[in-house]
Amino acid sequence: MNLEKLHQEVIRLVLEAGRLAKEKSVTGIKAKGAFDFVTQTDQMVDALLRKELAELLPGSHFVTEENDDRDYSYVEPTWVVDPIDGTSNLIFGMNQSAVSVALLVEGVPTSGVVYNPFTDELFTALRGAGAYLNGEPIHVSGHRTMGETLIGVGTNPYNKENTAVTFAIIEAVFRDCVDIRRMGAGALDICLVACGRLGGFFEKNLKPWDIAAGMVILLEAGGVCVGWDGKPLALTGPEDVLCSNGFLQETLMGYISRKG
Ligand code: IPD
Ligand code: CA
Ligand code: CA
Repeated sequence: MNLEKLHQEVIRLVLEAGRLAKEKSVTGIKAKGAFDFVTQTDQMVDALLRKELAELLPGSHFVTEENDDRDYSYVEPTWVVDPIDGTSNLIFGMNQSAVSVALLVEGVPTSGVVYNPFTDELFTALRGAGAYLNGEPIHVSGHRTMGETLIGVGTNPYNKENTAVTFAIIEAVFRDCVDIRRMGAGALDICLVACGRLGGFFEKNLKPWDIAAGMVILLEAGGVCVGWDGKPLALTGPEDVLCSNGFLQETLMGYISRKG
């Protein structure tokens, strides 16, 4: 498997999928659960990527949001795909949604591509080869104190029983940092840490497809992405996620262990 060539092909596909998603009007909105929606755009992009990625790498397996046929064993090379991350943003015209594709090889997140067609920002990374935004190298911020950074938060809208915990941490963090941001698309939030706009980001209960691609990009940009227990993420189910530029890792973990 020529990973560099494959990575370039994935970039081409994700750009194509993102542009299609942007052009399509949002139709067929259905509730999958409380406050959790799917649209025809999510389903169209999911089907397109499953077909094209399978052709790129015959025998590969899939973990994608809009298809229940998922293989979390990661024995075979596996695509972890969020066809549209930020579906509520898409429905409400917030222009903060992305197509997110990761490739795991022997269980290791190896290639990550996250594209927001509304801002035309393409985040990419191949393990060991650095992280890029629209082809330019990116790196996490050098901020070492809360007083000099923005922190991204996720509010875990589909599990509102976690509201008290999440908002207790957000309140404590907000008191100490420049300000918080709730952008509404986890994959992009992780990339915003990677390119240094946010010093950190945390959210309860993210799914493997919200995390995997952004994680490759963040690690390659010099950041950290772990669970709220400080352990590596397994990407086999919902996980509470803490990302940072590394310098703020211990500080952010402190808020989580005091309030989480
Ligand atoms: C959601 C977004 C949102 C986050 C949710 C995710 P979706 O993904 O990333 O920011 O708060 O936890 O599930 O449903 O739009 O793909
Ligand atoms: Ca998502
Ligand atoms: Ca999604």
